[in-house]
Amino acid sequence: MKDLDWNNLGFSYIKTDYRYIAYWKNGEWQKGELVTDNVLHISEGSTALHYGQQCFEGLKAYRCKDGSINLFRPDENAKRMQRSCQRLLMPEVSVEMFVDACKQVVKANEQWVGPYGSGATLYLRPFLIGVGDNIGVNTAPEYIFSIFVCPVGAYFKGGLKPTNFMVSNYDRAAPHGTGAAKVGGNYAASLYPGKKAKTQGYADCIYLDPTTHTKIEEVGSANFFGITKDNKFITPISPSILPSITKYSLLYLAKERFGMETIEGDIYINQLDQFSEAGACGTAAVITPIGGILNGDDFHVFYSETDVGPVTRQLYEELVGIQFGDKPAPEGWVV
Ligand code: COI
Repeated sequence: MKDLDWNNLGFSYIKTDYRYIAYWKNGEWQKGELVTDNVLHISEGSTALHYGQQCFEGLKAYRCKDGSINLFRPDENAKRMQRSCQRLLMPEVSVEMFVDACKQVVKANEQWVGPYGSGATLYLRPFLIGVGDNIGVNTAPEYIFSIFVCPVGAYFKGGLKPTNFMVSNYDRAAPHGTGAAKVGGNYAASLYPGKKAKTQGYADCIYLDPTTHTKIEEVGSANFFGITKDNKFITPISPSILPSITKYSLLYLAKERFGMETIEGDIYINQLDQFSEAGACGTAAVITPIGGILNGDDFHVFYSETDVGPVTRQLYEELVGIQFGDKPAPEGWVV
């Protein structure tokens, strides 16, 4: 295992040994390979550079107690990447090719998967970009599908610690735009509002629905969930939300393992009193409890600004227990 401060990793780029790369040329994917060079050499006319024709994914590899390594639901990332490709007219990678590439890149970088119990994981960043000579607003003549990996710790400082967010006046995505696709443009649009929130002392923005600005959609680059005072698990539904695999996993676990009623529905920003707890969820964020939300002049505290609510903790332990192989996984979740 590499010599890193495994217990104190943040979420930043660390160059690892190998990355997977495959090229799409003449209408088909060529055989991918593992390479050591972390620099891409692409045409200045690449559509990814000018017209944002690109998408990406995020998933993690986990070191288990017995030393083996788990991937969590990589097939779901593969399918979501296919949907992103459909939206931006890019060639899809098959689920089989995607999952096989994930396995290859994790095996090749096995020394970068931290020790069990350190909290560190290996973050996989698959991406697919339009490349080749081009200048008009068109699809690219060629594409690259690549996956690199970085060892990471908590995305929001402190991990399972309540974190405060503020409602943004900006939209992350348009009503019939690309919000549900994992494309870089959505994240580029979030940089400026995210910076404003951070400057004011908040971890990131709460984005409201872009049509009426009355309902919660997302928490920075993560999804939102709330636990109602009568113990229902609620998460927003909208065509402009990025469908988080962690969120769908929590919906399943809340219902099947904890007998909670689960709802995907509207969450009005002026009705936060219904919740006893709230959180942000995603691959990078895992589950980050939301301490409070600033909305205009009103600061709403959910469970506590310092302590983690019992339901949030229970869901966290179940999810993370499955990911690290300590709890039984629903069929097909762990590879
Ligand atoms: C993830 O949770 O994997 C994400 O994609 C969030 C990220 C943009 C850091």
